[in-house]
Amino acid sequence: MAVEKWEDCTEEDILQANIEKYDNDHIVDFYKGLEEPRYAYIEYEVVFKAVTEMLEKKIGRSLQAVDLCGGAGRAAFVLRACSPDCRVALVDLSEKMLAIARDRMSKQNIEGIDLIQADAFSFLDSADKYDLIVLSSAIHHFKEPLNLLQSAAARLSENGIIITIADPTTMIKSKRYEIFRFLIASGYHKKEIIKQMFSRSNKDSSLDFDMAEYQTYMGMDDQELVRNVRDIGLSPLVHFRYPAGGELGKIRIMSYFGLYWAFGLILGKSGNYVPEEIDRLKQEIKEEMPYKFKYME
Ligand SMILES: C[S@@+](CC[C@H](N)C(=O)[O-])C[C@H]1O[C@@H](n2cnc3c(N)ncnc32)[C@H](O)[C@@H]1O
Repeated sequence: MAVEKWEDCTEEDILQANIEKYDNDHIVDFYKGLEEPRYAYIEYEVVFKAVTEMLEKKIGRSLQAVDLCGGAGRAAFVLRACSPDCRVALVDLSEKMLAIARDRMSKQNIEGIDLIQADAFSFLDSADKYDLIVLSSAIHHFKEPLNLLQSAAARLSENGIIITIADPTTMIKSKRYEIFRFLIASGYHKKEIIKQMFSRSNKDSSLDFDMAEYQTYMGMDDQELVRNVRDIGLSPLVHFRYPAGGELGKIRIMSYFGLYWAFGLILGKSGNYVPEEIDRLKQEIKEEMPYKFKYME
């Protein structure tokens, strides 16, 4: 019998849903379009630059990084730009998503990124040690993100860092967020939003239940995640909420209204970073971010 509720899904069911989703040409084509300048991902540059500089200083050599569930390489490309000597493994289960990355690499003559087709847990099971593991718009594709973070933590080098970025908080369920998003959306996206609202109001129905995207529509409890990472030997060095995606102008308007619907975490192994280092990191990110965002305590 088909699984009809999130509570009943296993990690394996969700993996299967993601395999099917990211083999769908309609979805894959959307990610081809993400190279367009109308999408601003300035927070990636700001956060990756601050973290890679800190890591390079602390570790004293060029970095080994993974962009896990990296898709078409959005994070991997920014990482290489921020830290040109950094070697990046771009890992994704979808060959079609990796093909977009391969194409971009050859068109833009980018080197230093190794493409690996694997699911995240299998990769982490056999991986080497990494100084930086990035999960961009990724942890919401897992039933138990904490298990994923625990497996990733086991692959960190001594002072290694995990960054999660671009995952939705539960704010995306709020009316004020929905109304705002609807007002600024293009015609195509207005239709998509109406579809999502409809599927959410029928969330007990099997008709619209999308396991791969459940948490995209429902959001994640980032506060709870932060509380729980401490139990797996990680320290939340930085936890921030921010508006994401779209043109910079729209992001600025969202930030003006406090619509910090996405969250990011910078995690280190417990005890590896002193308060002065964390304060410096936060300060640097704050100075460079071109819009208002919020640090969570
Ligand atoms: C929302 S996309 C994000 C892609 C990319 N990180 C970005 O920021 O644009 C999610 C990606 O995660 C991949 N994915 C989902 N579940 C996965 C898993 N269990 N292991 C590896 N990749 C996975 C999908 O194939 C897809 O490319």
